[in-house]
Amino acid sequence: MPDLASLVTHIAAEMAKAPERGRVADYIPELAKVSPAQFGMVVITADGCEVAAGDADVAFSIQSVSKIFALVEALSRDANAVWARVGREPSGSAFNSIVQLEAEGGRPRNPFINAGAIAVTDLLSAGDDPRAGVGAILRLIRQLAGDDDIAVDGAVAYSEAASGHRNAALAHFMKAHGVIAGPVEATLSSYFHQCAIDMSCRQLARAGRFLMHGGIDPASGEAVVSPERARRINALMLTCGHYDASGEFAFRVGLPAKSGVGGGILAIAPGRASIAVWSPGLSPQGNSLLGTAALEHLAGATGWNVFNP
Ligand code: DON
Repeated sequence: MPDLASLVTHIAAEMAKAPERGRVADYIPELAKVSPAQFGMVVITADGCEVAAGDADVAFSIQSVSKIFALVEALSRDANAVWARVGREPSGSAFNSIVQLEAEGGRPRNPFINAGAIAVTDLLSAGDDPRAGVGAILRLIRQLAGDDDIAVDGAVAYSEAASGHRNAALAHFMKAHGVIAGPVEATLSSYFHQCAIDMSCRQLARAGRFLMHGGIDPASGEAVVSPERARRINALMLTCGHYDASGEFAFRVGLPAKSGVGGGILAIAPGRASIAVWSPGLSPQGNSLLGTAALEHLAGATGWNVFNP
């Protein structure tokens, strides 16, 4: 394997000059203001070595990457309730598809598409103050990243709340089917706030370390989830983490990973590394174009692709 620091520096330099950078998400107006010129990458290996390049310390909107942490929190509280609401199958559909939810009686395919994540978030806040759900997710993320400064960007949350009509449609449809327990407005507010958490690649890679270590947070030595649950979350990330591009991502990169429309991706090489990349330009399916290219390069050069013999 090449020297990791030079490899990551080389990848970041290639990505910085890439001419084709994808399109920044504009359906959340606040995200449309972010410059696609940026690229950051942080790799933390199992022995604790941390390698960073590019805009590694610039905070960005984690968006759907938050769905990993919401799922961890909900599973810790009541795993049966989670799996009673959402499935574990790749959707093969857009992350905000309405037609699939209707065709399947209001039961979301998996916890990473928008409908599934809204149903999971509802479990965290139902019956409670709507802020309790996002508060629990934020606490978990701060603890895992070892950084109490991580916070919600209120302008992004407001921007999505003002324009999130598709998510409102999904939530109301699930409410009609009894999949959402709390008031729809409160559940959506909690979901928009969790998506609007800002983190840098360094913070995100740190927060993902437990997933490379079979559920153990190396900073505290404590189990965040059991080894079995860590395996299963990685399985869901591999099969569902990139929506209708999950197959293509597995084909090219071969790592469990979760993307967000802010352009971030958290990828896990089990037993080897926690990796965060960020570049705001997206593919048509809503996944970071250069983030994916960077992970493909890294997984190929290191041999971390999970399908390697
Ligand atoms: O609900 C939404 O549409 C956004 N807050 C999150 C979607 C997202 O990040 C999809 N990711 N690639």
